[in-house]
Amino acid sequence: MSDPRSVFVDEGVLDLNYVPPYLLHRETELRFLSDLFRFIVDAPYEMSQRVVILGDVGTGKTALAQRFGLNLMFDARRRRVRAKYVHINCRKLRGSLFMILLRAVRAFRPQFPDRGYSANELLDTLMRVLDEENEQLVLCLDEVDALIEKDGDALYYLTRVQEERMEESRRLSLICISKDSETFQELDKSTLSTLQRNVIRMSEYTQPQLSDILISRAEQAFRPGAIPLEVVDFIGELAAAEGGDARYAIDVLWRAGKYADSVYSREVLPEHIRKAAATLFPTLREEEVKQLSRHEQLVLLAIARHFRHIREAHATTSDVERSYHVVCEEYGEKPRGHTQFWKYLNQLKWLDVVSSTLRASGKGRTQLISLPKVPAEDLEREVTRILGRD
Ligand SMILES: Nc1ncnc2c1ncn2[C@@H]1O[C@H](COP(=O)(O)OP(=O)(O)OP(=O)(O)O)[C@@H](O)[C@H]1O
Ligand SMILES: [Mg+2]
Repeated sequence: MSDPRSVFVDEGVLDLNYVPPYLLHRETELRFLSDLFRFIVDAPYEMSQRVVILGDVGTGKTALAQRFGLNLMFDARRRRVRAKYVHINCRKLRGSLFMILLRAVRAFRPQFPDRGYSANELLDTLMRVLDEENEQLVLCLDEVDALIEKDGDALYYLTRVQEERMEESRRLSLICISKDSETFQELDKSTLSTLQRNVIRMSEYTQPQLSDILISRAEQAFRPGAIPLEVVDFIGELAAAEGGDARYAIDVLWRAGKYADSVYSREVLPEHIRKAAATLFPTLREEEVKQLSRHEQLVLLAIARHFRHIREAHATTSDVERSYHVVCEEYGEKPRGHTQFWKYLNQLKWLDVVSSTLRASGKGRTQLISLPKVPAEDLEREVTRILGRD
């Protein structure tokens, strides 16, 4: 039961992991994707497919793939064909091919042990399991950049494995998602050409499109009348200015509802939106910070702390390392050694907020860290909050 004083009836609809039943303004993309995989139910085991989905932050890439996956499994069940869609965020698994394949195998064999195999053996195991179960698998590699950066050959293996099984049934198809087509340029020519045959490009959402998306979410998440239409348009405007980012729009909507609740308002008002927008940085994703390990979060806090107290725009890695030691002491953690610290720092460059550049110096090149997109004070507050919660 929802709280009768709250503007929300079902906050879960605004959760990051919620897959909307319909994707507004993505009908063409969804139809195209479904057509590419039509063979799975129409001519099972005869083909495999590779598709790349490209688009900026919050353009609905993940939602598109997940909606497609759920629809596919529904159709397959209805047609009595075996097919499974498995969605994997490569960044969350630190780009480890081993972990990705383990997830895939465990989608069929939940008890499969997590050691004793190499990534290549796991790939063989995966194919064997698919044979045994007579399954077709669509493996979606979301944020595939992390995988390519970690292991340049991984996609080569994944695209090749099907070709090596000339005589056998076709079982493994791939969907790769990335924000940026540059990612793929590092791949070898033949992998690149097999991947680039089918590319779906997602454009930025416009303000009216964002408003439509917001309305359909708000109808389920909020009490009737709790969100006036002009308030929805106001958020749509903000998010359109942020590069058509639907996630930012939904985050603002949720946080504004929270502000409304905190002052016992029956309605979400423009002032609540302004408050929400003032504390939400499109470049600072709570979800992404939560995905970091505890020590990576501590390094991020160390960066924020350092910049709060200095006037310079850039910091050296040793500045940050010193600050990290202080932060560790405060949180009762033993600071990790220099090499490990470097690895943590490197993970953070994936966050939109932290930027790092190399600059020539007397002895060679120095790495300089900066925080161009978010006030240090706000970053400190957010990371402190997230660290405190664990
Ligand atoms: N067309 C749409 N209809 C309804 N909801 C949508 C639509 N597009 C995106 N959303 C919602 O907006 C949010 C952001 O979308 P999504 O996570 O798919 O973006 P993304 O392109 O994967 O972003 P990122 O590059 O940051 O991973 C999600 O909550 C998603 O459900
Ligand atoms: Mg995504």
